[in-house]
Order: sequence, then C-alpha cells, then structure tokens
Amino acid sequence: YTVSFDANDTEKGAYPHYMLKEIDEQPAVMRRLLQEYSSTDGKITLDPTITNAINDADRIYIIACGTSYHAGLAGKHLLETVAGIPTEVHISSEFSYNMPLLSKKPLFIFISQSGETADSRAVLVKVKKLGYPTLTMTNVEGSTLYREADHKMLLFAGPEIAVASTKAYTAMIAVFAFMSVAAAQKKGTKLGFDLVHELSLAAQGMEQMIDEKAQLKEVAREYLSITRNAFYIGRALDYYVCMEAALKLKEVSYIQAEGFAGGELKHGTIALIEEGTPVFAYATQQKVNNSIRSNVEEVAARGAHTCIISMDGVTNQEDDRIVLPNVHPVLAPLVCAVPLQLIAYYAALQNECDVDKPRNLAKSVTVE
Ligand code: AGP
Repeated sequence: YTVSFDANDTEKGAYPHYMLKEIDEQPAVMRRLLQEYSSTDGKITLDPTITNAINDADRIYIIACGTSYHAGLAGKHLLETVAGIPTEVHISSEFSYNMPLLSKKPLFIFISQSGETADSRAVLVKVKKLGYPTLTMTNVEGSTLYREADHKMLLFAGPEIAVASTKAYTAMIAVFAFMSVAAAQKKGTKLGFDLVHELSLAAQGMEQMIDEKAQLKEVAREYLSITRNAFYIGRALDYYVCMEAALKLKEVSYIQAEGFAGGELKHGTIALIEEGTPVFAYATQQKVNNSIRSNVEEVAARGAHTCIISMDGVTNQEDDRIVLPNVHPVLAPLVCAVPLQLIAYYAALQNECDVDKPRNLAKSVTVE
C-alpha cells in the first residue's frame, strides 16, 4: 500500500494500472483526511458554517451519480444514525424530473469526484433557483459543482485517473463521517465512539485487506473466471456496499452483476440463481447477520457458488471466505471497499479488459 501520499502525483510509477495504485492509496487518503478534518488532540475541525448548515436542515438531500451515489447511501446511514438528521439520497438524473420536497429547511449535498457531472450540475442549477442551501463534496477544487455551491468540502484524495472510482468513494464516506460527528458534537449528542481513533483503525484495516491481494486474486479466479453474471447480496448498510460492489465489477470486467437486498431475493430475483451462479454476501452488520446468512443458505440450496465476506469479532464464522478486520460498524464500508475493488480489478485482468479505460465509459460524464 502507499504510505507516503503525493496529492499531485499523476503517474502510475511502478503500478501496472492507475486503478491498482488508487486502491493502494486509500489508507494514505484516510490519514490525509484525518489531518484536514481533525486536530492532533482528536477534535473534529470542520468549518463551523458547514456544521451549522448541516444542523439547520430538517432534511438532507444527497444528490449524486454512480459510485458517488453509493457513497451517498453510506452517507445517509452516517447522517441518520450519528447525527439524527433525516436524509434522502437521489440519483441526479432522476431527481431533476421531480423534486418531491417535503421539508421546510432542506440542505442539498452534491457529491462528485470530478465536480463536473452534468446530471448533478443540472440539479444544482434548479436547487439554487429555488433558493435552497447547497454543499458540494468533491475531489476537484475549482470545479463547477465546487464553485457554484454555498458550502464546499474537499476529498483530498489526489488525482483519480482510473475511470473506476475507488479512493474517491472511500474518501466521500470518511468525509460524511466527519460531517456527521461534527454535527452531532455541536448538538451535544453523546456519540459513544471516537471517530479519529476509529478512522485510524479503518485505515489500518484497509491496509490489511490491501496486503491480502493474493487471496482476493484467488477469489476472483475461483468465482469469476467462467461466469457472465454475479450477485452481491447484503442487508442494511451492507446492501449499499453491494450496490457499489456490483457497479465496480460491471464497469471494469463487463460481468453482469447486481447488488441486491438479501431479503428481496425471494420476491422474484432468486429465479435467476442456478448451478454455479456466483453470489457474494457482505455480512458485517450484527443486527442482520442471521438474516443474510439464511439468504446465503437459500441461494446455496439452489446451486449458487457462495462467498461470505464478514467482519472479525462481529459476524465472522469459521468457514467464511473473507474476514474483514474489525472496525466500527458505521465505518464498515471503508474496509468492505478494498475486497470489492480488488475482486473487480482481478476479474477485469482475467477478462483482458482495459482496466483504467473501460469501454463506453468516461471519467467524468459532462453530458446529460
Ligand atoms: C464510478 O466508478 C464511475 N466511474 C461513475 O459511476 C462515477 O462515479 C459517476 O459518473 C459520478 O462521477 P462524479 O463522482 O465525478 O460525479
């Protein structure tokens, strides 16, 4: 993994692909974010105007596309469970058709690695015309979404060159954690955890998973070398992770994949499960552990080739294929990200795809 982090480094260096380099940079990005958004004595140091904007809202609307939308789902979980703020997440292109606003004091948060995504910019224009407060979270200072929003937060992830977003995704989730804790602390909410400590542990956990590349390459070979489709199933926060896992796999390896709510399978989609269908299950959240494991048994009984990804000390059982290092449950998506990214990366290599520039895709979709 990358220990030192040069925010202006745009070269691959010794890496075969930008995607692999950017996956490896994630722990260093976490530590960079700790420097930017917390102090050495462990305090969260967000611009107070941002914390006030968060707490002044009676509902937060997160607007994003693709991987950033999936980061927004994890952000919703953080804002609701840590800061107690009702939050909705909307795909930019869908939200612009109808803006069902049922709140008097909304705050719109636009999350975008590039800060130039046309679908998101179109919503920002409409929202500003309505006079609502806006905040942009982006990796590109000076980008359109950055300039045109009332409040701005940077991801400090360094240039993300690979089309498939990896380090920006985990950086967004970490910034939502800072945002949620800062808002909660401002309101005097007792948190029960120390974010600076937990985020440091998450960075170490990401490093540990990065060090297990060989195991993840083997998983990609074992489950994805002769398949045209795959499922990721999960419940609660793990479901959001599964949506990102499926997108990563699709966009770099061209394997049709679906991130699915475990409890929803029996309402139709389980009809697709046949002998050998790869089904990965994320099981990091204690409260839904038994339920997702029974979903795994259901699909295994129909011939699926199952792979459980659980969390050490919380949900793991001895025959789980991948056991993630233990982190605070609300930060689980950070350690979950590395396996889903590396499994997709190695599946792409197996399929001889252009990992950094997948067909039909652009790094920033600047047309609607
Ligand atoms: C992510 O791997 C994709 N490249 C894509 O879904 C991307 O997240 C989406 O286009 C949004 O881009 P943005 O974050 O720059 O707005």
